[in-house]
Amino acid sequence: TQSIDLAVVAGDGIGTEVVEQGLLVLETALAGTDAKVATTEFDLGARRWHATGETLTDEDLAAIRTHDAILLGAIGDPSVPSGVLERGLLLKLRFALDHYVNLRPAKLFPGVTSPLANPGEIDFVVVREGTEGPYVGNGGALRVGTPHEIATEVSVNTAFGVERVVRDAFARAAVRPRKHLTLVHKHNVLVHAGHLWRRTVEAVNAEFPDVTTDYLHVDAATIFLTTNPSRFDVIVTDNLFGDILTDQAAAITGGIGLAASANINPDRTAPSMFEPVHGSAPDIAGQGKADPTATVLSVAMLLEHLGLDAQARRVEAAVAADLVERAGRVRTTAEVGREIAARVAG
Ligand code: IPM
Ligand code: MN
Repeated sequence: TQSIDLAVVAGDGIGTEVVEQGLLVLETALAGTDAKVATTEFDLGARRWHATGETLTDEDLAAIRTHDAILLGAIGDPSVPSGVLERGLLLKLRFALDHYVNLRPAKLFPGVTSPLANPGEIDFVVVREGTEGPYVGNGGALRVGTPHEIATEVSVNTAFGVERVVRDAFARAAVRPRKHLTLVHKHNVLVHAGHLWRRTVEAVNAEFPDVTTDYLHVDAATIFLTTNPSRFDVIVTDNLFGDILTDQAAAITGGIGLAASANINPDRTAPSMFEPVHGSAPDIAGQGKADPTATVLSVAMLLEHLGLDAQARRVEAAVAADLVERAGRVRTTAEVGREIAARVAG
């Protein structure tokens, strides 16, 4: 019997609603296997911050660390100053647990309408670096509020950090049919970081001779994501470019309601974290309107990470079948979750 200790951070807004459905599908997928899931809920997010002023304490972090994986809903609320929960909770988890591979698949499922007139086949994955870049908080502000204010956010890129994520991206490309890796950066302007990324891709390519590579500046990458998304197989890029490109990737494949992600610690020195790409959507929170599909697909990634490949495929297949038949139907969050779960069971 495999016992899965799952830390659950439902978080803010629609986070609670989508996580509930994600857990339903997870339990359904495990029924009839010898794996069992035991969940521990962590009260983190806006409510906790208002009540205690805490975002993520050392005790919370230590407790979360003892789990096999984390399922996260969404973090962020307009009642909390921007950045407090994002930096103090979500990014803190990604950094502290060394989630250096932020894996974000972009796949246009049959039955899903893309806003692109001729989307073609879209099936790529973005390997977004998760622990460095402009996200590290290496910056500051001088003479704040004056006409002479100077604000800096310094992007940090280490040879160690770039190499490990690039190697992971190559390994992923090597087992995909097309075996193609695209580095996205802006090395004509960000010359220091850009050249480190480029040299690293060149060097690691020697270990993966079957993988073909190319390079796009990030601005050009946004054009191709619109005009020819089929050209992409695996994209490797830094933390901020990856953040932006994966929202665009979600948009062309049916919207953020479907976009799943995994914050992976490939060395397994700490639990990996699975979360929908979308945010807490306070405007529709509590109304049963949120689409839980992105969370359900994140659950599939969780199952795969835990070695439960057959269950992961089952969940994906259930979502794929649901997507084919959802056009024109208006369902609540719980209805979508229940119907997908029924397909997983069936
Ligand atoms: C995401 C989100 C986060 C990010 C925010 C909420 C900090 O946009 O997961 O893509 O920028 O990584
Ligand atoms: Mn984002």
